[in-house]
Amino acid sequence: MDAFVIHGGERLSGRVRAGGSKNASLPLMAAALLTDEPVVLEGVPRLADIANMRRLIDELGCGTTDEPGAHGSMRLSLRCHDESASTARYDIVRTMRASICVLGPLLARRGQARVSMPGGCAIGDRPVDLHLRGLRALGAQISLDSGDVVARAPRGGRLKGARIFLGGPFGPTVLGTANVMSAAALAEGETIIESAACEPEVADLATILNAMGARIRGAGSPRIVIEGVRELRGARHTVIPDRIEAGTYLIAGAITRGRITVENCPIDHLMAAADLLEGIGVRLDVAEGAGDGLRASVTVECSGRVKPAQITTQPHPGFPTDLQAQVMALLCMADGNSVITERIYPQRFLHVPELARMGAALFHQGPTVVVSGVRELVGAPVMASDLRASASLVLAGLAARGKTAVLRVYHLDRGYERMEERLAAMGARIERVDEKELAGVAAGAAAGGE
Ligand code: EPU
Repeated sequence: MDAFVIHGGERLSGRVRAGGSKNASLPLMAAALLTDEPVVLEGVPRLADIANMRRLIDELGCGTTDEPGAHGSMRLSLRCHDESASTARYDIVRTMRASICVLGPLLARRGQARVSMPGGCAIGDRPVDLHLRGLRALGAQISLDSGDVVARAPRGGRLKGARIFLGGPFGPTVLGTANVMSAAALAEGETIIESAACEPEVADLATILNAMGARIRGAGSPRIVIEGVRELRGARHTVIPDRIEAGTYLIAGAITRGRITVENCPIDHLMAAADLLEGIGVRLDVAEGAGDGLRASVTVECSGRVKPAQITTQPHPGFPTDLQAQVMALLCMADGNSVITERIYPQRFLHVPELARMGAALFHQGPTVVVSGVRELVGAPVMASDLRASASLVLAGLAARGKTAVLRVYHLDRGYERMEERLAAMGARIERVDEKELAGVAAGAAAGGE
């Protein structure tokens, strides 16, 4: 297993480019199951989760080929050649919860689907009841068999449009909205999804579905209206830039008190995070004319301690849960006390004990963490079992005095492409090593961890 070794304290300077969005790409890839014509996705990031999704849809009879795309990204071509399979096995689903997004497309196009029920994960329980409720409202019969969700279209093979409320106790569901919207695209009649997720990734999925011949209005708002069509065709589409990757690099610039430019930055999708950063004293300059608000060049600059803040994570356009851990690392060194409340995944605090190992002063109770700003963090061996928590530890390591070893960076590799190379290009002292090379350190950090 790989680890990052970071010698902290370097101010970052230079440029970094955000890649295509991981969380947009996964449901876009699943949308290829809705047609037997080719679907071509430009700007797909080269990440472990994308490779897993390819493996899954390949098993479902959808072949994929890749070619180099612009800026080191991938042009992914997908085409279904065999539509007889409809099972997503536990072996693959357990490696990636987002596998659930094949459920809607399989059910709508093939009339049936068997998808292993995703289990809990490091950031919380993550049920799929809303996905199932939405698909049932479209007429699907759904049961559970040996840990698999088994879904069947009604007799006649076609789902039927319906009015569906998709809100849950923690707000709307992103992949649930993607599943129901994809399925409704091929249903008979009109579907209205109320309390739909407004995340940009949902709007991006609607864009490709419409290019494939679907009739979807309102995606990106809480009310989506879908006129079902009989068939969808192929399409070519460029994936939106990754707002969470871009936001993580903006925070990297701020936490190291550096000055960097994040290119291909979807600043319009980062309104809440940008507002927060500016409010605590981080300067953001969006270059005039350098792409629209979805692909802007944003220069971040921070010259001293940030001010404290109160943050509550919320569904889009509120402050994203996927940046909560990273911004906590920044606030650890704020000039005062901050309060962070997690409203999407109330247990998503795996980074808290690890940041504490680096000298952060954190008080965690229920869904809230009080962060008392300290003057400095101190390097330490740390480990987190979730993607964004790992990113937070890398950021903390960049700012800390001395050496930090972030273990098990395979979590990070699921969502950040060659992060260490990009940070090193901006002056960070960071390298990827085999954990075995850190034998003493790794054993210490892992003790009692599993
Ligand atoms: N929820 C339910 N029932 C459901 C579905 C969700 O109660 O049927 C709850 C969840 O437990 C959570 C809330 O609703 O409390 C929101 O979950 P959501 O369904 O929106 O999450 P998701 O679609 O499974 C996506 C991203 C996550 C991101 C969340 C929230 C992908 C592949 N994943 O997950 O990304 O945190 O939306 O924005 O798109 C990440 O990238 O690190 C990540 C975890």
